Amino acid sequence: MVSLLLRHGRLITDPQTSVDIAIADGLITEIAPDLNAATDQIIDLEGQLVSPPFVESHIHLDSALTAGQPRWNQSGTLFEGIELWGERKQSLTLEDVQQRAIATLKMLASQGTLFVRSHADVSEPSQIPLKALLAVREEVKDWLTLQVVAFPQDGIYSHPDNAQRLEEAVKLGADAIGGIPHYELTREDGVQSIHKIFDLAEQYDRLIDIHCDEIDDDQSRFLEVVAAEATRRHCGPRVTASHTTAFGSYNNAYAFKLMGFLKRAKINFVANPLINLTLQGRTDTYPKRRGLTRVKELWQNGLNLSLGSDCIQDPWYNLGSGSLLEVASMAVHACQMMGRDELTACYNMITRFGANTLNVADGYGLAVGQPANLITLDADDAIAAIRDRATIRHVISRGTLLVSTSKPEISWQRKI
Ligand code: FE2
Repeated sequence: MVSLLLRHGRLITDPQTSVDIAIADGLITEIAPDLNAATDQIIDLEGQLVSPPFVESHIHLDSALTAGQPRWNQSGTLFEGIELWGERKQSLTLEDVQQRAIATLKMLASQGTLFVRSHADVSEPSQIPLKALLAVREEVKDWLTLQVVAFPQDGIYSHPDNAQRLEEAVKLGADAIGGIPHYELTREDGVQSIHKIFDLAEQYDRLIDIHCDEIDDDQSRFLEVVAAEATRRHCGPRVTASHTTAFGSYNNAYAFKLMGFLKRAKINFVANPLINLTLQGRTDTYPKRRGLTRVKELWQNGLNLSLGSDCIQDPWYNLGSGSLLEVASMAVHACQMMGRDELTACYNMITRFGANTLNVADGYGLAVGQPANLITLDADDAIAAIRDRATIRHVISRGTLLVSTSKPEISWQRKI
């Protein structure tokens, strides 16, 4: 028995054709024009675009919605943000983190995101951020897939207990293991931290997502270490290098050599254009660097790169609406992805490519037999969706309608 029938939609992969989509037992059971199915619920999409849901591949839910606490970041810099978070962190409770995380996830889901990877700071003895986000993962699992990365924000070797804390976090149930090699005390500690992350991932069968070279220093070269480990251990698709902003500052001779190594390693990348455009390049006068990784070149070389928000209204970024269409639009501009194929690629970076990063691609996509997770938009195609920051009209999760949004109405008050 079909539980939900969507009429008159246009698939994002074939927007010229009107189709109906039948859903039963949480799965897509049929996609074809003019389906005839007995069902309790019918939604007439009236030509809306149908897309797989958005994938938020990099966010910090533990700090989300704390902007202005205890004060606003007046300089907008990384360092003032770290100082403010150091103060705000003292008053974290499980309820505090859980309540903000759920509110943020609802903000994301209402705008079409149903898959999220969040980092959780594991550098405090209490492990409150991690425990709270693991509880949230359980609480939301009926309508959203949340992955939690154990993220040693202060480094693994900067404090004698941090390596132990990271392993504890993995035992508690983190989906992925994180790191921050460029923030370790020495280059050697940074390299060692990467070896440690890969060892733990092997031992506990976990994914890897490392904050890698998020700095303007053209000598910050931990990406090559991550790529080498992934190549030697044959685990590239399970590994993500997040940010890699220094890649935008490397000299071309080194960058071209590195690109060849990255293609062998087959690791994933996440760029966060909103936040890195504002945080990087701060020590430059002019010319001022954009502070982003080589998004276009990584995509052109066939590497999997997705986009993330990183921060939503936290000490580092006062803004953040939870719209991945806004993130994609910023990537289009900042990375000069203005060709038609490049624009479409930016849409893929918040959908399919994000699913690759999260290693959830097997259960993702608009096809018969797949879980019925999809969104409908007021847009002609993927490019128009980015251009217009299209309204997400329906969000369908696990086969049932989760959120719907009315079409905004513009009413002219004068005859023109
Ligand atoms: Fe981050």
